[in-house]
Amino acid sequence: MVFPPDDLEPWFPIETERLMLREARPEDFDDIHAYAVRDDVVRFMIWGPNTAEETRTVLDGWLDEQALWPRPGVNLVIEELATERVVGSIRLTIQDAANRTADMGYTLHSDVWRRGYGTEAARAVLQAAFGPLGLHRVFAMADTDNVGSWGIMEKLGMRREATLRKNRQVRGDWRDNHVYAILAEEFTRI
Ligand SMILES: CC(C)(COP(=O)(O)OP(=O)(O)OC[C@H]1O[C@@H](n2cnc3c(N)ncnc32)[C@H](O)[C@@H]1OP(=O)(O)O)[C@@H](O)C(=O)NCCC(=O)NCCS
Repeated sequence: MVFPPDDLEPWFPIETERLMLREARPEDFDDIHAYAVRDDVVRFMIWGPNTAEETRTVLDGWLDEQALWPRPGVNLVIEELATERVVGSIRLTIQDAANRTADMGYTLHSDVWRRGYGTEAARAVLQAAFGPLGLHRVFAMADTDNVGSWGIMEKLGMRREATLRKNRQVRGDWRDNHVYAILAEEFTRI
């Protein structure tokens, strides 16, 4: 079976209670750069803080990928409905098509942390992943000190499956990462 199937309907945009998850537009540059340039936002990331050129390259990549459907990786911006400001992004990437397995990642501007936006966006992506997309397993990785990131995973019922020792270098520092995952049959139970 080819996965994702050629006749797959796009599973986005997704509107949640407070957010719109949608494809990026060229005019989103300033909002995206506003968080990509921040030390607190990129603390656990292997990228950043971005120069304007780096953000431009990332955004151009997101715009270019929109020409391809179905595609293995989907990057969506997270727009706050109340302000129409892009406050972050979320990604779902098929890592193993034969086993219908994807991983997920997300980033939010620190202005909006601790409001439940991360959980709201990730829940919506998991609903799409196990609904229209028909995935079997979604996993995500988070630095062991990135409590906000694995806090989202725990709230969504993802299980900590492993802790990888010094598997990633962040600005020259080897970091430990938790691997969390959830299966389709587990997600329907929460
Ligand atoms: C990780 C991130 C997306 C979290 O987003 P968020 O919208 O603040 O997360 P939520 O508000 O949904 O929080 C979910 C849970 O995580 C935990 N949590 C979140 N931030 C926390 C913090 N700073 N300290 C302790 N616990 C935290 C809490 O349990 C929280 O639930 P609660 O508020 O009901 O107690 C955000 O901090 C971020 O963008 N960080 C920078 C980028 C990044 O590290 N991305 C992840 C890479 S793996």
